[in-house]
Amino acid sequence: MTTQPNATTIQVLMVCLGNICRSPTAHGVFYKLIQSNGLEDNILVDSAGTGDWHIGESPDARAVQAAASRGYRIDGLRARQVSPEDFEMYDYILAMDRTNLRELKNSCPDAHQRKLQLLLQYATAENESVPDPYYSGSQGFEQVLDLVEEACDQLLQHIKAQHFSAQAAD
Ligand code: 4NP
Repeated sequence: MTTQPNATTIQVLMVCLGNICRSPTAHGVFYKLIQSNGLEDNILVDSAGTGDWHIGESPDARAVQAAASRGYRIDGLRARQVSPEDFEMYDYILAMDRTNLRELKNSCPDAHQRKLQLLLQYATAENESVPDPYYSGSQGFEQVLDLVEEACDQLLQHIKAQHFSAQAAD
């Protein structure tokens, strides 16, 4: 069974508040999944924050360390703020929590509102939001990874099913 991509490239934007803890984690986790599925040419992922406080900064050191301990390298990412062009460019704009989602909804043109979702809509976990770990201890960053890993796995299955035809080839 091989996955036969059509000509589409699907673009995914992970969004949190500062773009230094949750969304870079989701970015790194989803990127690794894309790589391990050989879909680098078909699915692109980026991340951004609704806020501007951390523009240009590396991810929080605690997020970098927690991610590294599970095999995700996110230290090369740099924070940026969501821009108006993102609403045009991305196919899936996935917020980490309801506050991020509300901010996105307030600035997104009507034509692109359907792209806005909570990342955890793709998870079976009870949480609908990825809790902000910024003021928490290391356990908060582990919880972020637990939630994000499950959601990213299901997000990839969803994108494959929706946008790439799976046909028996052998
Ligand atoms: P993030 O976490 O939204 O997951 O990147 C935060 C980072 C920074 C702040 C809040 C949350 N802050 O208040 O600076």
